[in-house]
Amino acid sequence: VHRNDELPAGYRTVIAPPPVAEYLELRTRSGLSSRRKDQAEAALTGSWFAVSVVFEATGETVGMGRVIGDGGWCFHILDMAVLPEHQRRGLGDVILTMLLDRIRSEAPAGAFVNLLADPPGRALYKRHGFVETAPHSVGMALITDSLLTERAH
Ligand SMILES: CC(C)(COP(=O)(O)OP(=O)(O)OC[C@H]1O[C@@H](n2cnc3c(N)ncnc32)[C@H](O)[C@@H]1OP(=O)(O)O)[C@@H](O)C(=O)NCCC(=O)NCCS
Repeated sequence: VHRNDELPAGYRTVIAPPPVAEYLELRTRSGLSSRRKDQAEAALTGSWFAVSVVFEATGETVGMGRVIGDGGWCFHILDMAVLPEHQRRGLGDVILTMLLDRIRSEAPAGAFVNLLADPPGRALYKRHGFVETAPHSVGMALITDSLLTERAH
């Protein structure tokens, strides 16, 4: 199993998600779709496990990853994000190692860990043992519309 838990100098990990404002910014600045504050608040308190990487010179959160899961057998990795100016230094590798270590240590053996792999992360995920589920199982997604009037935010 590939694992690298050594961050480069100048960075430290925090076993928690970033604050909401930093989370929203980290997503958009790393190229992920933007989310609303109400979505972020629920997402971060609802995570099963989350890791942030802080750049010590500024105190800014520059990377993160998190897991939602049932604690038993099924876990979904998402929000793998590192700011562009901090990418390709091994931060993503350390974040993913920590998420998988936690699943291996807390969940009963045989857990099913999945994610939807955008191109920037694919090589990283493969190194950690992820394999494509297609063609048998293809990732599918749906974005809901509220049946009621959209709440004001
Ligand atoms: C995916 C993502 C989180 C990876 O973060 P990262 O910190 O750049 O990841 P790493 O540095 O561990 O690895 C990335 C690459 O840098 C390389 N690398 C690591 N340390 C390096 C170093 N010191 N010097 C040069 N290259 C290095 C790795 O070998 C890897 O190369 P590869 O992908 O060609 O195999 C980041 O690219 C990102 O946020 N992308 C935009 C958002 C996104 O698409 N997220 C994934 C959603 S599924």
